[in-house]
Formats: sequence, structure tokens, C-alpha cells
Amino acid sequence: MMPASRTFSRGLSRLSCSVRSAPSPTLSAITRSTPKFQPRVSLPTRTSSTSICSRGFSTTVPNRHGHLTEPKPGEELWVTFIDKEGVEHKIAVCEGDNLLDIAQGHDLEMEGACGGSCACSTCHVIVKDEEFYDKMPEPEDDENDMLDLAFSLTETSRLGCQVKMTKDLDGLVVKLPSMTRNLQASDFK
Ligand code: FES
Repeated sequence: MMPASRTFSRGLSRLSCSVRSAPSPTLSAITRSTPKFQPRVSLPTRTSSTSICSRGFSTTVPNRHGHLTEPKPGEELWVTFIDKEGVEHKIAVCEGDNLLDIAQGHDLEMEGACGGSCACSTCHVIVKDEEFYDKMPEPEDDENDMLDLAFSLTETSRLGCQVKMTKDLDGLVVKLPSMTRNLQASDFK
């Protein structure tokens, strides 16, 4: 009588023979039999490991906070900041500059703790004239949420990082509040 292990291995070899003998469709056969077959993704062919390693990194130029361009003569818009000591700073700016960048670019005391991402209230400004306040686009919900945390909140308060200069705002005057609240620095210690 044949040992069970040998019977089993023979069975296996028969099985592998029958598997081997079954014709396996090649990719070209599949492509031929299905004429509409289109590979959806074409991957780059890897020729060697060095072709992957030699790829360089690509980077984008960071949007630098506080970066301002000089306005062209005759195209400048004017904004005045009144600092905490009551001193006026009249500044010529370009259309599209926001009040945070303008203030920081001219060494005025505006912290901008979140870097202008509408996640703090340290760029709080108070628009002096209601007429200019009404010319600004309505604050988004995020801005209103942050303004709720600001000290000295007024009816014409805005976040400086969210206010961009437009031709309509030429001649804008904003006051810097006597205090700002930086939740990251003080409230979470
Ligand atoms: S800098 Fe933080 S909200 Fe403007």
C-alpha cells in the first residue's frame, strides 16, 4: 500500500500538471478579444532605481506674509492707520494689498498671530468712517467668529488680514485698538 504522503504529493503533481496545461490568456489576447479595452492609467516605465532617485523636488514660492509691492505713480491708493498713541500713518498702497500686510510692512504694531488665516483676532482694526465700512464686502462667518473674541469690538470692527484695498477704499482710515487678544499666547498657558 502506498504511503499517504506519497499519494498526496502525486495528487499535487497531477494538479499542477493540469494547471500548467490549461492555456492562460495573455494580455495581448485579452486586448484582441475586447477591442474597446483601453488601459485607464499609463504608468511610467521604471528602467532602473537611479531613474527614481534622480528625480528632484519641486517647490512653489511661498506666499510671503507682509510682502508688498511699491505702487506705480498715479495708481496708488491711500490708507491711514491711527496707532495706539493716536499717531496717524498715511501709506500709499496697491490695490489688493490687505491691511495686515500693509501694517506689518510699515512696522506698525499689528501682531497677525495666525499669519492671516482668520484664526485669531490680533489683526483687529476699527474702521473710522461707516461710509468706508459699508463699501467693504461683508465679513464671512469665520471672521465674525474671530471678531467675537476681539477686545474693544465695535460696529465697524474688521480683521485687517481679511480687508483688501480696492479703489472704493481709497482714503480709508482705520484705528488700531488699544489691546488685542492672542488666545494662543495668553489663554492657553
Ligand atoms: S492675522 Fe489672525 S485673523 Fe488676521
